[in-house]
Formats: sequence, C-alpha cells, structure tokens
Amino acid sequence: MDRLIDALRAELGNSGLLVGADIGERYRSDRSLSGTQLPLAVLRPASTAEVSAALRLCHAHDVCVVPQGGMTGLAGGANPDASAIVLSLERMSGVEEIDATAATMTLLAGTPLEIAQAAAQAQGFLLGLDLGSRGSCQVGGNISTNAGGYRVIRYGMARAHVLGLEAVLADGTIVSDIRKMLKNNTGYDWKQLFIGAEGTLGIITRAVLRLATKPATVSTAMCALENFAAVLEVLKSARRELASLTAFEVMWQSFHNFSARQAGLKFFDKEPPFILIIEQSGSDAAKDADLFEAFLSRAMEAGHLTDCLIAQSEADTAKFWTLRETLVLDRLPDLVNFDVSLDIARLGEFADQCAAAIEARWPGCHHSYFGHIGDGNLHVCVSAGPDQHAVDELVYNVVRQFNGSISAEHGIGTLKKDFLGYSRSPEELALMARIKQALDPKGILNPGKVL
Ligand code: LAC
Ligand code: ZN
Repeated sequence: MDRLIDALRAELGNSGLLVGADIGERYRSDRSLSGTQLPLAVLRPASTAEVSAALRLCHAHDVCVVPQGGMTGLAGGANPDASAIVLSLERMSGVEEIDATAATMTLLAGTPLEIAQAAAQAQGFLLGLDLGSRGSCQVGGNISTNAGGYRVIRYGMARAHVLGLEAVLADGTIVSDIRKMLKNNTGYDWKQLFIGAEGTLGIITRAVLRLATKPATVSTAMCALENFAAVLEVLKSARRELASLTAFEVMWQSFHNFSARQAGLKFFDKEPPFILIIEQSGSDAAKDADLFEAFLSRAMEAGHLTDCLIAQSEADTAKFWTLRETLVLDRLPDLVNFDVSLDIARLGEFADQCAAAIEARWPGCHHSYFGHIGDGNLHVCVSAGPDQHAVDELVYNVVRQFNGSISAEHGIGTLKKDFLGYSRSPEELALMARIKQALDPKGILNPGKVL
C-alpha cells in the first residue's frame, strides 16, 4: 500500500493526495449521513490525465476507488469504506466553452451545478437541469446519478442534457466523445452506460451539455387544493393549455406543514390538504402573465383550486420555493428518504396506502409526502426509529404492488441495493452484472454500490 501511495503522490503531487489527519470529515458520507468510514486516501486529480494515471495505478494494485462529487446524494452512493481510496473531482471544475451556435456547454465534471447554470444564463441560455442542492452538487455527479429535480417535466433528466462525454475506465483508459452533435448514430451510444451508473462503470471527467432558450417570462403560482383528484385535474389542463409547463410540484399537508414551521412561512389562512407550485415559462412578455392568470381562474371556477397566489415579484417566487426546498431531511432522526415513481394517476392512492400502513405500524411517527408530481415522482420521508430496514420494506412492498420504481432520481447507492429486485427482473439484473463485469472485471470501481 505504501508503494501505491508513493506512486500516486508522484503522479498527482502533494495537493492531489490527502492521507491520515488531512482527510476531512466531508469525505465520509453523502447527505444521507449513512457513511461511517473515512477512506485510506483521497485523490484530488486536476486533469483527466491525472484521473487516468490514478486509476491505472489503483487498478494495478487491486485497490478500490470511490468517486466523489459534491456529496449531496441521498443513497449512500459516494460513501467510502476504510479500505478504499476516494477520488474527488473537486479540483476539476470549470466551464470550458459555451457554443452559441450549437447551444452547448462543455465543462469539467467537478463544476458545481449552480456555476454551470450561471454561465449559461450569462450567455442568454438556460441550463434546464435544476435541483435543490445546486450550490454544492457537481455536474459530473448529476450525470453519474442521472439526477432529476424540479424541471424534468420540461427539460428532462440529466441524461437528456448530455450530448458528449469523457470518462475514464477502471484500468485508466480514457474514452472521449466530447462532441456537440445532437445526431450521431455510429454504433453503440456508449456514453449512456456511464449516465446513471453511479461511478460503477467509469469516472466521468468532462461533458458537453445541451442548452435551452432562456425563457423571457417565468410565472409562478402557489395553489391550495382539497384533494388529489383536483391535483390531477389541474395537471391535465396545464399540460394542454400552458405554453410551457416548467414545474408542477405538490406538497401534501404533512410536508408543507412541517416545512412552513421550519421556515417560518404561512401562505393560506387555512392549511390546505395539498399545495401546488406551478410554473409556466414563455416568450411573450405582454401576454404570458395574463394567460397564466386566466388558466388559474378557470381552475378556481372549476373548483379544482380553493385558493391561489400568483407571484408578483422575485421575492414572492423565492418564498414559494423556500416552502418546497426546506426539506425535513436534515432535521429528523433516523430519517428514511424515499424517491419512488409510479403511474401519476395513482400517486394519491399510493400515498394513502403508505400512510395507513405506516400509521398502523408506528403510530404517531413523522411521515410526509411531496414531489415532482408532473413526473410521477413522489418523495416520502419517514422518521420511525432505528429499524430503517423495516421502514424500507413496508414502503417498497407498496411500491411493488403499484408496479413502481424504487428510485426515480436519487439512484440505488448502498441504501436501496437490497430492494433493486423489487423494480428489476432477474434477467435485467443479470444483464447489469454482465455490463459491470465487462467494464470493470476486477470490481475496483465504487464496489458494493448499485449491484
Ligand atoms: C427533492 C429531493 C429530495 O426533490 O429530490 O427535494
Ligand atoms: Zn426530488
């Protein structure tokens, strides 16, 4: 091991390698706080060539490598154990190019999402990927987990943004297709393998992302609804009638009540069973606001909304989103955080069934429901004591009954590994194992994750 560390230091320099007391706490766990161990060493390469050299050495020494981005994941996918070496992309940050003709951005994997968003904005574009952890998460991590977020309904998940990719394989081989083409049917589209693979097949080092037109207008409203049937009615009309529906986020009372108390916010006199944040983007500054208001008025008249607040300023908009972004995550003990997806029309029924089962088993515990309902993606938070596996089993059994997915946007990591078989058939799992074996036969890349 000392020989490996010396060789790594020779390749990466002193600032590229941390050992012993220099390994900070932040390398221990992602935001699920499920990581318990510090790694043997932390590598901080500054270039793709250094990532390649580091992997070549670790591969030759049969030492496992755990890639880390901004550590905002919720599935334990970036947590090391004490025998592994962490490879952090933190020094590989920066937007290399924005091509206004192709409408693309080329950037390094360690670039924080918010930096990438701001760079796109400064050139009159929009990077459609957006999630609550934008300030700390890194684009390479977003791609590795195929992150979703708030605007998937309009712009798609991370995968939909990726036009070109560069990755380093387990043995140090660099595979690069940093091109800006939207159309490229030349054999297998290998980059798709690395998107959502959670660092188990290779380490993403650079990417070309697709940029969207920056909308001239964004209108946001916060609506109160009486029941989930009304949520579905509003979604149905929004899909048909709004020029561009860019967010449709719903909070059950259990969630918005908690969040409003945490954030010291209050929007409606009487707390509604459901709160919806709906966002429309458009290109006609003269008409968009009126069309949005007319849409909401119709929804009020039809009785689908019981109340509705339209943001009149950026401060209003920010306040609405604060209610949504104030998560219970960091505030409750033994929190199990779910990220499921299933048939949108059955999400209400699903939440009711989970709630009844949880209440029956752990009466009075915290359980709350919210999510990207336009995408069929519900988050469930449960704080029911130390037996987290029992909570998982209970909820995932309901997911299975609804033929849903146990992970919509957070990935599998370590926390959902035991339940992957609830959403994937034995044939699918065997295919995944064959892909893993083909790309990383020694199993050194992010071991114990996903499969
Ligand atoms: C969110 C995270 C939990 O939607 O995915 O806020
Ligand atoms: Zn989410």
